[in-house]
Amino acid sequence: MRMVDIIEKKRDGEELSKQEIEFFVTGYTDGTIPDYQASAFLMAIYFRKMTAEEQGHLTMAMSESGDQIDLSAIEGVKVDKHSTGGVGDTTTLILAPLVAACGVPVAKMSGRGLGHTGGTLDKLEAIEGFHVEISTEQFIQQVNDLKIAVIGQSGNLTPADKKLYALRDVTATVNSIPLIASSIMSKKLAAGADAIVLDVKTGAGAFMKTLEDSKQLADAMTAIGNEVGRNTSAVISDMSQPLGFAIGNALEVKEAIDTLKGKGPADLTELCLVLGSKMLLAANKAKTEEDARAQLQTVMENGDALRLFGSLIKAQGGNADVVDNTSLLPQARYQIEVPAVKSGYVSAIDADEVGVAAMLLGAGRATKEDVIDLAVGIVLCKKIGDYVEKGEALAILHTNKQHAEDSINLLKEHMHISSEKTAAPPLIYSL
Ligand code: URA
Ligand code: CA
Repeated sequence: MRMVDIIEKKRDGEELSKQEIEFFVTGYTDGTIPDYQASAFLMAIYFRKMTAEEQGHLTMAMSESGDQIDLSAIEGVKVDKHSTGGVGDTTTLILAPLVAACGVPVAKMSGRGLGHTGGTLDKLEAIEGFHVEISTEQFIQQVNDLKIAVIGQSGNLTPADKKLYALRDVTATVNSIPLIASSIMSKKLAAGADAIVLDVKTGAGAFMKTLEDSKQLADAMTAIGNEVGRNTSAVISDMSQPLGFAIGNALEVKEAIDTLKGKGPADLTELCLVLGSKMLLAANKAKTEEDARAQLQTVMENGDALRLFGSLIKAQGGNADVVDNTSLLPQARYQIEVPAVKSGYVSAIDADEVGVAAMLLGAGRATKEDVIDLAVGIVLCKKIGDYVEKGEALAILHTNKQHAEDSINLLKEHMHISSEKTAAPPLIYSL
C-alpha cells in the first residue's frame, strides 16, 4: 500500500477502506509516513469529508494507537460523559457523584489541558490533599468498592491523536467535523467507556458557534459511537453565556458542592439532571427519563450524592470536611466588584471573553507550563435577562492581584446592558 494512492483516493472523493485508514494511522504514528503526506491527507479530508464508516475506522485506529484502559473488571455498564468544552462548566464534578449515588459505576479519567480555567483534575486538586496519581489496580478497586474514582489521563493514550492534533493546528485543518469527532471519540473509547453521553456546546463560548455546526458535530460523534458498538447519545447545550455563576477552580468546586446540596444555579442544576438522566438510561438504571430524573433528585435531596463526593475525596487523600465547609477551599486575597456602567437588562454575556478575564486573573493556562492559581476567578452576579442598577455589581472578581484592570474592563465591555428586556437563551437545544 502507498500513502500517495490513499491521498489521491480521498482527494477525488472516494471512500477509503478500513485497511487504508489503518495504514495511515499506524504509519503516521510510528513516523514512517511523513508530515507532508499527512498534511495533504488531512486537507483532502477537510474538503471531501468522511462517511460514517470511514469515521468509525479512523476513530478505532486512533484509539488503538496507544494504551487502552480495560474496565472489564468493573461490574455494570461504564458510562462516560464528555463535554466539548465551555466556560465555567462544572458539570463533571456534580454528575460523577450524582450518577454514582444512583448505582452507575463512574471510572473517570480526566485531564488538565489548556483553557480559561483548569480541567477537572485541577479543580479537584483545589481540595487539600486530593491526588489523582493512583494505580490502575487501585482505580478499579475503588470503583468496585465506592462506585467512583478519578484518575489522571495516561501519558500514552491515543498518541496518534496527539500527533495529528498538533499537525492540524498548523495546517488549518482543526475545524473539520470528521476530524474533531474522531479525535474526541478515540480518546473516550481508549478510556474504556461502554456508553458515552456527549454534551455538545453551542454559542459564543463554544468550539462550535452555530447550532447547525453543533448539530452536525453531535450527529457525527453519535454515529461513530454507535457504529463501533458503544451506546452514544448527545445533548446540545447553550454556551452563549457561562454555565452557572462561578468561573475558576476552587470557586467551581464550591459551586459543585452547592449544586449537590440542591442549592446550585438553576441552569447548572438542570443540565446535570438532563445529562445524568441520559447516563442512567445508558447504564440501564432507569426505564424512562422521568424515572431517571426522580432518582437523581432523590440522591440530591437526601444527601447521598454529597456524602459520596465526600467519600471520593477521602479515598483519594483529600480533606472531606470541605463538603460541609467550603471556606476550607483556597481563598483569594481580594474580592473586587465590577459595577454596571448603566441601568438596564443584561442582554448578552460573551462567554469566551469572560473566560479570558478569568484566565488573566490566573485561573487558566495559556501554555502547558503555566501554573494555575486555584483560588482565583469570577463569580457572576447577573445572567442574561436580569435587571441591574447602575453601580450595582455585575460580577465579583476573586483575585490575588491588587490590580485587575484588564479583567474588569473585559467584563464591563462584554456583559452587555440594554434598556429592553431580553429573554434568557434556551439551555438545551436538542436531545
Ligand atoms: N477537542 C479534541 O479533543 N479534538 C479536537 O479535534 C477538537 C476538540
Ligand atoms: Ca460555573
